[in-house]
Amino acid sequence: MRRQKNRLPIGVFDSGVGGISVLVEIIKLLPHEEFIYYADSINAPYGIKPENTIRSLTIKAADFLFKLGVKSLVVACNTATSAAIKEIRRIFELPVIGMEPAIKPAVELKKNSRIIVMVTPLTLQSKKFNSLVYQYKHLAEIISIPCPGLVELIERGNNNIADYLYSILRPETNKNISTVVLGCTHYVLIKREILKVLGRNINIIDGNCGTARHLKTVLEKEGLLNNTLEDKLQIPLRANVRFYTSGTGIEVLKYKQLLQVEGITCES
Ligand code: DGL
Repeated sequence: MRRQKNRLPIGVFDSGVGGISVLVEIIKLLPHEEFIYYADSINAPYGIKPENTIRSLTIKAADFLFKLGVKSLVVACNTATSAAIKEIRRIFELPVIGMEPAIKPAVELKKNSRIIVMVTPLTLQSKKFNSLVYQYKHLAEIISIPCPGLVELIERGNNNIADYLYSILRPETNKNISTVVLGCTHYVLIKREILKVLGRNINIIDGNCGTARHLKTVLEKEGLLNNTLEDKLQIPLRANVRFYTSGTGIEVLKYKQLLQVEGITCES
């Protein structure tokens, strides 16, 4: 028997572990949903590759999830969104949610302030990002900082992250910065380390909750919310997530641990 469309899983995709930070917020908001998480870990990092390469890798990943029968797709990666969201929406007939650096909320939080946006080199070069910055540059001073090499350190869980952050963020510390926007889903996983470098008075913003809310709105509108399992809600949350990676698969253990830290255990 075919499953009702609203009971199909939601596909969440990233080049690696970063998308887990988005998945956390989606599970908290939509605990009745099923998920398939796909990490293209063999090709991570995306952010230092040419745009064309990222575009074809993202299309391949979307195709993989589409063939597994997801009802919608979350591109939980700012870099892949910058490079490929238009093509993904054109090729695949399902709701596609992308990510963009949360500059708008940062500007709304404090007008005429100084904002740092940490992004991958590819995101920084992209047309999409530059038009976003252009839209808000009269409302705040926006300082974009590319962070080549940071995604690799996060993927490896490397101890040198603090040294890296000091080298790129220290020059900014006496510039009266009000907010830091994490424009890469990997960076959300090292929020605490970033705060340590910049000091506690800085606001740190990411687009993860906004993306989760947007996904909910879109699913609601399309009649795709899985609201048939109301009695399943439990605390701590038990999530139904299937994991796939293009790597060895050993990464999945770390993904489950990260979810567990957020109070989410996986059924499978
Ligand atoms: N999580 C991806 C992002 O949000 C990282 C990209 C990469 O693999 O460099 O941009």
